[in-house]
Amino acid sequence: MLTLAKEASQLAYVPYSKFPVGAALKTSDGTVFTGCNIENVSFGLTNCAERTAIFKAVSQGHTKLDEIVVYGETEEPISPCGACRQVMVEFFEPDSKVTLMAKNGKTVEMMVRELLPYSFIDFT
Ligand code: THU
Repeated sequence: MLTLAKEASQLAYVPYSKFPVGAALKTSDGTVFTGCNIENVSFGLTNCAERTAIFKAVSQGHTKLDEIVVYGETEEPISPCGACRQVMVEFFEPDSKVTLMAKNGKTVEMMVRELLPYSFIDFT
């Protein structure tokens, strides 16, 4: 999964930030999906690597996700943005593992509920 996340970053479309990110996730049945960040000249339309991987999985019928690795070409592991955290809450379990990985292989492991405590859930 760590290698797949790093490989996915090589496909990042980042002409504006030049900041490639890759993600690899595993669904509850063990299927793996990868994603990269995809930028746009209208900057706000950028899609992060995490959401690319999650939306690929969901669009293929996988709505129960198990774990995700996020790779950044950085000295220290990068941390998912708020939008990605809320999307993670939708499809992962609160205790699902999120591994954040830097270019030197350094990793930090978190749980989804640690990344977004007291998150908005469907109360209806
Ligand atoms: N980015 C991600 O893809 N994932 C993160 O966890 C943090 C930020 C992207 C968005 C943008 O293309 C670039 O990194 C710089 O913010």
